[in-house]
Amino acid sequence: MLPVLTYKVPPSTRACPQCRTLIQADNMGKGFYISKAVGVVAIIAGAGALATIIALSVVYSQEKAKNNDNEVSPTDGGGSTPKPPVTTPAPSNEPWDKYRLPKSLVPNHYNVTLWPRLTPDETTGLYIFTGESSVEFRCAEDTNLILIHSNKLNYTKLENGQYAMLTAVSKADAPSIKSSWLQSVTQYLVLQLNGNLMKDHTYHLSTRFTGELADDLGGFYRSEYMENNVKKVVATTQMQPTDARKAFPCFDEPAMKAVFHITLIHDRGTVALSNGEQKESSNVIIEGKDVQQTSFEPTEKMSTYLLAFIVSEFSFINNTIDDVLIRIFARTPAITAGQGQYALNKTGPILKFFENYYNSSYPLPKSDQIALPDFNAGAMENWGLITYRETALLYDEAFSSNSNKERIATIISHELAHMWFGNLVTLRWWNDLWLNEGFASYVEYLGADEAEPTWNIKDLIVLNDIHRVFAVDALTSSHPLSSKEEDIQRPEQISELFDAISYSKGASVLRMLSDFLTEEVFKMGLRTYLAEFAFGNAVYTDLWKHLQMAATANGTWLPASVNDIMNTWVLQMGFPVVTIDTKTGTISQRHFLLDPDSEVTTPSLFNYEWIVPIKWMKTEVVQEPYWLNGTKVTNEAMKATGNDWVLANLDVVGYYRVNYDDANWDKLLNVLSTNHKLIQVINRAQLVDDAFNLARAKIIPTVRALSTTKYLNVEREYMPWDSVLGNLDFFYLMFDRSEVYGPMQDYLRKQVTPLFNHYKTMTGNWETVPTGHMDQYNQVNAISLACRTGLEECQNLVKTWFAEWMNTNNNPIHPNLRSTVYCNAIAAGGAKEWEFAWSEFRNASIASEAEKLRSALSCTKQPWLLNRYLEYTLDPKLIRKQDATSTIVYVANNVIGQSLAWDFVRDRWSYIFNQYGGGSFSFSNLINGVTKRFSTDFELKQLRQFKADNAEVGFGSGTLAVDQSIERTIANMKWIAENRQNVLKWFGDEAKP
Ligand SMILES: *[C@@H]1O[C@H](CO)[C@@H](O)[C@H](O)[C@H]1NC(C)=O
Ligand SMILES: *[C@@H]1O[C@H](CO)[C@@H](O)[C@H](O)[C@H]1NC(C)=O
Repeated sequence: MLPVLTYKVPPSTRACPQCRTLIQADNMGKGFYISKAVGVVAIIAGAGALATIIALSVVYSQEKAKNNDNEVSPTDGGGSTPKPPVTTPAPSNEPWDKYRLPKSLVPNHYNVTLWPRLTPDETTGLYIFTGESSVEFRCAEDTNLILIHSNKLNYTKLENGQYAMLTAVSKADAPSIKSSWLQSVTQYLVLQLNGNLMKDHTYHLSTRFTGELADDLGGFYRSEYMENNVKKVVATTQMQPTDARKAFPCFDEPAMKAVFHITLIHDRGTVALSNGEQKESSNVIIEGKDVQQTSFEPTEKMSTYLLAFIVSEFSFINNTIDDVLIRIFARTPAITAGQGQYALNKTGPILKFFENYYNSSYPLPKSDQIALPDFNAGAMENWGLITYRETALLYDEAFSSNSNKERIATIISHELAHMWFGNLVTLRWWNDLWLNEGFASYVEYLGADEAEPTWNIKDLIVLNDIHRVFAVDALTSSHPLSSKEEDIQRPEQISELFDAISYSKGASVLRMLSDFLTEEVFKMGLRTYLAEFAFGNAVYTDLWKHLQMAATANGTWLPASVNDIMNTWVLQMGFPVVTIDTKTGTISQRHFLLDPDSEVTTPSLFNYEWIVPIKWMKTEVVQEPYWLNGTKVTNEAMKATGNDWVLANLDVVGYYRVNYDDANWDKLLNVLSTNHKLIQVINRAQLVDDAFNLARAKIIPTVRALSTTKYLNVEREYMPWDSVLGNLDFFYLMFDRSEVYGPMQDYLRKQVTPLFNHYKTMTGNWETVPTGHMDQYNQVNAISLACRTGLEECQNLVKTWFAEWMNTNNNPIHPNLRSTVYCNAIAAGGAKEWEFAWSEFRNASIASEAEKLRSALSCTKQPWLLNRYLEYTLDPKLIRKQDATSTIVYVANNVIGQSLAWDFVRDRWSYIFNQYGGGSFSFSNLINGVTKRFSTDFELKQLRQFKADNAEVGFGSGTLAVDQSIERTIANMKWIAENRQNVLKWFGDEAKP
């Protein structure tokens, strides 16, 4: 699954400064957050002795348990549903009070028939589905108890007076059922038997049930949309991680693989889809209703979380590639408008790429992909029937930007990568989710590169994943990639794993691994791993074992085993900053923490040291890679005298930051300002990002970080510019209400003007679009920053375009530029511009266009418009519930909207909390979003008052965020106090012509 917020910030959101979501904010609510006082006690020096290690792991699991009790919102990023506070059931030894299934029963196959009703029930008004299911299972250990997952299903009592019927498949009789009940906390249907099921015998269990086809985006659910003013209903599914049990009773754990025979009953004329190919479909009359019954070929042996059932009135387009049928399904008008064509064209080549990469043919006869109007995540890799939100699959040249297009190519690639890694071979339990998702998040770049070879998209992992997750993983509240199996039990705990660490850090460390092994060796190990575990399950160390075998066979030299190297990256949180002193040639490492005053209270078996592969160059010559294994070593080769300089972590293949002695920093800055192309593009982006973050961590002075931006007047490449803009966001937040703002704007305008002129020339005075993908992005950055810093020519340009649109009703603005042009034109305009954009938003026929308008509406400088827009967010007829939080946060990102949004949230807290408490409202994003600019004593007081005033109402999933906002405000106040004078002076000096 690809959650939405966990998915990378699309580059074009930079286009509109208001629209960037702070990724820290999303993730601060996760992981460990231990007060300093508690923490100190837990730090024990010299964890060598076994006893100490045991003590540490006790502390670790206690802290972890504590954390989990506090954390009530599994912000899975999918605009997720805050769950009610988790109450751990009273300890009990009854098997039905445990969250994990016993090992006594193993399913062979299921026979499931489901009938979703696309009109509400006449008596109850509910949308429902009915179903019949039977499962054949083998008994692995004698038992008189059957536990099978079931959630929110109502059962019909059968002839035996019980919820289920049990028969023996083999000779012996089945015991009769003593009692049956639903255990709702652990989500089981429980059957107690009058005798034992016998080891190695096979049985058959059948049930009949009813469920609600709710609009809750989980399990079997309904999605609605309007077509020609007629409401249409789709029945569809999202099973991952634990909602297959909401559709039918099943052994709902990933290792309980089975074969599924699926039948769907549906209205005549509608289309039924599932994982397998359609076997037969006929018109029948059931319960007096004329319906169609469609059955599907049995699936391969697979996990329950990958099932999908969909009934719709959608249309499709198709092609075939080497006998695999590829179809793209969507709403009929979208298909008619050709919006599925791009996805259809790219799927075949990406599928072929992965067949080759994995050396394994696509295991199924068909690959369906479908775009759904309501979908919580970005996409879901159901085997043979991948589901997407519309913006992740549908492309329309007239409306979609290159960023929208890139998103489609990479998400398709991500999901297709899972068809093998995840679906064919599945991790045994959810604690290894990071490997499944991290892997797909890495190879999605390889597949997308195949589909769009001119984009250089593989480089973007550095901005989109590595730099992004560094921000989260540098906090003491981060957590290791790998979790213990026993620590991940409840559905909420599973959902929590779908975070930036699992996806982006997972991808980053796997890329590093593939790089130091070489791609050939990495593929070799991967291929034997997939071959050994096909249709089965594995754990992450199984992959290490196969990679080790490949490395050994290839004669690859490594400083330690694959397992030992990777343990330092997956079993402890964070990453190192590697410091190279070129005077002495010493190389050292330490745990990088963004806030130097924070204390790490989570112990690590490796004492926060890593085995670090270092690719580096001296002056212009790439050197032999070097392994840092230890706290501090000396390598004569890294001494640099005279004009020589050292640059490490080439292409940022390593998951770490780099610092140097002052002299080497000076030399690197000098290279940037005299001949920046001596340093490759990715490393120019790295120097900026490392410098700004080292400064935040007080490892180097802030003015040194600012100095990395001095050469920007000659920089034309996207990656370094984007790195700068990302880092300047913090400066804008801290200073856009202070005296620093003016000189900062003057300086940045001076720096961006040459870039603006460069694109003006390249595009023939804005008549054409740059050909390069990165150039298209950087053109957006140029316009965005030029307008933001008040370059008059830029502001006139966007106003003219927008006015032309308003006057002619013919939109002349290229889709790439729409976010930034809309935002800047609305900021410069008044009510007329706003109303026009609002009506375009209400009438948008494609989701990606509506998204651009919704964010741009927050850019106005008129307080009354902003206030009215805030009011709209609480009216679901105007702003969909799923978009309410982000709209309020957009307003808060606007310097004028900041205090309005804060007042709004403070005023309405109890209303918001009660109205949206159970829905898709993310309180932690909301609170972090409206307070992230806070940096004064007065704001700190308000925040504390807010906490006190609403203690009774509570903060739900935003509880931690309130405390974190207080902490962040204090940290911001400190940072400003320490930096304001220097920064003011620096911008003032540098802004001079
Ligand atoms: C599945 O169930 C249907 C009806 O309930 C039955 O006709 C069919 O034979 C069953 N198939 C298998 C493979 O058990
Ligand atoms: C299931 O039963 C409960 C309790 O009787 C009822 O409230 C609910 O509406 C039922 N659900 C369906 C889908 O019939």
